[in-house]
Amino acid sequence: IYENKDQVGCWTANYIVRRINDFGPTADKPFVLGLPTGSTPLPTYRELIKLYQDKKVSFEHVITFNMDEYVGLPRDHPESYHSFMWTNFFKHVDIKPENAHILNGNADDLKAECAAFEAKIHAVGGIELFLAGISKTHRVQNTCLKTRSPLIRAPYPRTLVVAMPRPLGIGPDGHIAFNEPGSSLASRTRIKTLAYDTIVANARFFDNDITKVPHMALTVGVGTVMDAREVCLLVTGVHKSFALHKAIEEGVNHMWTCSALQNHPNAVVVCDEDATMEL
Ligand code: GLP
Repeated sequence: IYENKDQVGCWTANYIVRRINDFGPTADKPFVLGLPTGSTPLPTYRELIKLYQDKKVSFEHVITFNMDEYVGLPRDHPESYHSFMWTNFFKHVDIKPENAHILNGNADDLKAECAAFEAKIHAVGGIELFLAGISKTHRVQNTCLKTRSPLIRAPYPRTLVVAMPRPLGIGPDGHIAFNEPGSSLASRTRIKTLAYDTIVANARFFDNDITKVPHMALTVGVGTVMDAREVCLLVTGVHKSFALHKAIEEGVNHMWTCSALQNHPNAVVVCDEDATMEL
């Protein structure tokens, strides 16, 4: 638990660099990294770029696999995950373009695209470290579950103040990649129809217009994430606190796909103080 999202990013980037350097990747033995998109990993990517510029790490022998991509969004659309990754990370480091794998949401045969993605992961020996984020709870979560007090963003250390009635309910979410509530915990890379709540949540990237948000995506499965030898889950912000509670404090449940990580033998959660509000 760190004080803020920048510190989370700083720790995570330094951890990834340490893992890559300890592994000592070569052309024959590359380091395989799973990567997310979204606002959560941005501080990590920023710090990774800095560490690369300071010559603390090279991505020459790093192979990456991204978690997900929208279906039907042109590859060069500013909100495609392809654009996101190149703008925010890949173009600033020495990764070889052929080593950066992102699902093609415009493939003629989407099923074959998903199968080929899994086969590629398998062919390089599986994912060494999977970096992941989770989605927020789909309604504004502004009271603490336990105390029923409003969650006020207060200066660190956090404070909770007087109780008031809970204005909004909490719905299921906490998806990992695009594994929406109800996804099989054994799922593999596949086509997924996005939950209405996800479409609403992601409308912020599409001029707040839900009609512009793609309704389908390709995503690694929960099983794909679970197969990685290590998973690093990043959770920042009070809007993720209920999802974090569900991820680590309640039972493993396919309605909260992030909770599957409880069964992972080597998973670490890196979060900020705000995200711990419901713990
Ligand atoms: C999308 C992605 C998820 C990501 C989530 C949260 O739904 N498919 O992989 O975890 O957004 O994004 P943010 O980090 O911006 O909250």
